[in-house]
Amino acid sequence: VSTRLIGIIGGTGPEGIGLATRWAAAGVPVAIGSRSEERAADAARDISNKVSSADVQSGTNSEVVSGCKTLVVAVSYSGLTSISELRALLEGKLVVSVVSPIRFGPDGPQPSRPPAGSAAQELEALISPARLTSAFHTLSAEKLADLSRELDEDSLVFGDEKSDRDETMDLARTLGVRPLSGGKLANAYYAEQMVGLLATLNRIHKAQSGVRFVDVRKKS
Ligand SMILES: NC(=O)c1ccc[n+]([C@@H]2O[C@H](COP(=O)([O-])OP(=O)(O)OC[C@H]3O[C@@H](n4cnc5c(N)ncnc54)[C@H](OP(=O)(O)O)[C@@H]3O)[C@@H](O)[C@H]2O)c1
Repeated sequence: VSTRLIGIIGGTGPEGIGLATRWAAAGVPVAIGSRSEERAADAARDISNKVSSADVQSGTNSEVVSGCKTLVVAVSYSGLTSISELRALLEGKLVVSVVSPIRFGPDGPQPSRPPAGSAAQELEALISPARLTSAFHTLSAEKLADLSRELDEDSLVFGDEKSDRDETMDLARTLGVRPLSGGKLANAYYAEQMVGLLATLNRIHKAQSGVRFVDVRKKS
């Protein structure tokens, strides 16, 4: 189990809280970041109430980035450009994007392809030369936050550097899912779009779907 503190930028939303809850339950220290210190503290308190052993801190996004070597970007797609403000603080750190550009309208998810190709590549242009990977897109926030549910599923991990992908795959293991390398960062497009597919399945089948690939050789 990695005991390195994981900071979550935009950690007050359902996805950030879900990821933080799983890591906290696995004994991994987490720090919740937000534009508002108060919202971050509220989210951290909610996690501590659920996981009594949780080692959870909170602060503004820049405080959290300053204090962590591993960061997850869990802001809404509309907030992605604001991450450029953290560029200098993110240099040399591992940054994992869970952001999907899918928008949700009254008729359900709307496909959308960012001009850069994917949200991950858009983020890359904003924070380069940070060590960027992209992962966890297919993990439902609701299911992550419900510790009574086993996560019998995969999480695809993308990134241009193998060492960064490997580190991100370790983070996925501590969440309790099977990580699968999906190769280069540009391939994150496929997983980002799956958020829309899974949401569609959830609407049709009244489910909380996830992804499990078959006949893929297990890689560590
Ligand atoms: N929900 C899911 O099941 C799910 C699944 C897969 C992937 N994702 C992706 O994960 C990310 C987080 O999802 P979510 O449902 O937790 O999103 P969310 O609730 O819409 O947003 C997460 C956080 O982003 C921050 N934020 C919003 N606008 C911002 C701005 N303009 N600048 C900076 N920060 C801003 C807010 O934090 P503060 O107001 O506290 O700063 C908010 O709590 C999204 O990109 C989503 O596509 C979500």
